[in-house]
Amino acid sequence: MSDDTAKFEINGKTVILPVLKGTDGPDVVDIRKLYAEADVFTYDPSFTSTASCESKITFIDGDKGVLLHRGYPIAELAEQSSFLEVCYLLLHGELPTAPQFAQFEQNIIYHTMLHEQFDRFFQGFRRDAHPMAIMTGAVGALSAFYHDSTNVNDPEQRMISAHRMIAKMPTIAARAFKYFRGQPFVYPRNDLSYAENFLRMCFSVPAEDWKPNPVLTNAMDRIFILHADHEQNASTSTVRLAGSSGANPFACIAAGIASLWGPKHGGANEECLNMLAEIGTVDRIPEFVQGVKDRRYMLMGFGHRVYKNYDPRATVMQKTCHEVLKEVGAENDPLLQVAIELEKVALSDPFFIDRKLYPNVDFYSGITLRALGFPAEMFTVLFALARTVGWIAQWKEMIEDPSQKIGRPRQIYTGEGPRTYATIDKR
Ligand code: ACO
Repeated sequence: MSDDTAKFEINGKTVILPVLKGTDGPDVVDIRKLYAEADVFTYDPSFTSTASCESKITFIDGDKGVLLHRGYPIAELAEQSSFLEVCYLLLHGELPTAPQFAQFEQNIIYHTMLHEQFDRFFQGFRRDAHPMAIMTGAVGALSAFYHDSTNVNDPEQRMISAHRMIAKMPTIAARAFKYFRGQPFVYPRNDLSYAENFLRMCFSVPAEDWKPNPVLTNAMDRIFILHADHEQNASTSTVRLAGSSGANPFACIAAGIASLWGPKHGGANEECLNMLAEIGTVDRIPEFVQGVKDRRYMLMGFGHRVYKNYDPRATVMQKTCHEVLKEVGAENDPLLQVAIELEKVALSDPFFIDRKLYPNVDFYSGITLRALGFPAEMFTVLFALARTVGWIAQWKEMIEDPSQKIGRPRQIYTGEGPRTYATIDKR
């Protein structure tokens, strides 16, 4: 907070507005009293200049390419921590001590199974249903099963719902995958790590159990860390807005999943892989890049609303991509060659340089996930699984913030003025 103010003059009135200061990042003009004092709204349809909340969870400096969770750089967390430890950090604000972590891990493991009746939901979907369609429906349906953790005003129920969602999301995601594949569901096993358990539920079949591979398991865990939270992006803002009405946490997370599905957000890695496959070979890159410049298509996996520099997650993802491809013997994957060359071409082309377009986390994640054995349809599901902790931490922070009210943007109305109704025979 600060003593600075901003002076705003309009319609012959002068309004003095407070200027707020965060730990880092630009100052923020507090316009909450503007309408009451000057009878005007502000206009910012895509929130390019608007902070919608105060948060202590994640900080991004898009110009410098910095991403911190509770103050810790993403690269350090990705290299040294584990996904469950990052979950604890996001939810509680501090890294856990050994006993705190043991208790947390136990709480998550305890909640990995789904109510047996829940499995009937999956059978209701068409055989060829997109796994994200199943996720959106199934996660919303959790609120029909776990009534004892839907009271948003009870802190204990809020924490139980957080544990439940972090724990059950891999089970739901794996079931969506198995249904899509036409294979039997695999039950969770509590002696495995979070990532191992998920990979086993995806890739084990009755005829052959899945064999753990530490390189691939670590890569999966790191990919989860990279996607755990990203402050007020479209899906997180959706979760906060849905939750601001007091809706139950399972319904709010389902709303976040729906928002994440879009190709400009979580769907980008699927689109990016399709794009690389369509380009196919390195010699076709110049033609593709020209098409981007002619506005015939976008370079998927490039550009970001906040990062005007290299996305720090993309650096870790690129390294992970090389590790995974080496491990599965696919270093010569033609799509990887196309991606490496395409990145090089784009980063030296004035069209991308002038617009500060750099690779984002999705540029290399599709190739990596494919090498781990996932089809493109599962990519956004994996993102949703990992982002669940970010959504729930942000949702919890919002509920616990006394200054938050129901979210209700205003509008500038440009439609017809008042007119008289004419019956259908007179139109
Ligand atoms: N390819 C080609 N041109 C692009 C791209 C791209 N990927 N991204 C932005 N541009 C251009 C825009 O056309 C615009 O050009 P102009 O000023 O000449 O009109 C300029 O760069 C600025 O872009 P904006 O559209 O203003 O950027 P915005 O912040 O609205 O969009 C977004 C960000 C949605 C991520 C965009 O860059 C995009 O669609 N990228 C491709 C999809 C993608 O990779 N999404 C993943 C985001 S990260 C995540 O969700 C995990």
